Amino acid sequence: MNPSQISASNLIASLDLEPHVEGGYFRRTYQADHRDMLETTSGSRFLMTSIYYLLTEDSPVGQFHFNHSDILHYFHLGDAIEYSLILEDGSLQTLVMGSDVLAGQHLQLHVPGGIWKASRLLNGSSGFGLISEAVSPGFDFADMEMGSRQKLTARYPQHRALIEKLTRAED
Ligand code: GUN
Repeated sequence: MNPSQISASNLIASLDLEPHVEGGYFRRTYQADHRDMLETTSGSRFLMTSIYYLLTEDSPVGQFHFNHSDILHYFHLGDAIEYSLILEDGSLQTLVMGSDVLAGQHLQLHVPGGIWKASRLLNGSSGFGLISEAVSPGFDFADMEMGSRQKLTARYPQHRALIEKLTRAED
């Protein structure tokens, strides 16, 4: 298929993706189950796991969340994706993953464990953005926390507008 004919819906079908709790769609593609597990202070983990991760016009935001593991992101296809990172000192880092490397977009992004991260699909002609993530120690829900709007705005009031845009409303 010509890459220009790829749509969000045929990518979801052909890569067999399912909705992710953060928003967007994903499928785990790899876990290092041929190696010994890694013993961490939080329990036993694969040495590394990997997923496809897709944002679409229907689900354009990966909500703020936190992970203890390091995550490498690799851009594949489609429209650019903006990443918002709140570092441990409260400072905000914003950057864009996409194929326009001459314009400063990134093909790879390394997010060390311990950082609040959100992503947002930017407007473009594709209507989707596809990346992969490699996570080490391997992904486990016990190492991950979804960002509570109330908690994050109380902790980082200087980023209130951004946090409200990139978290779900709470009761
Ligand atoms: N985010 C990064 N890797 C994973 C994974 O393997 N599973 C889930 N649910 N989310 C992830």
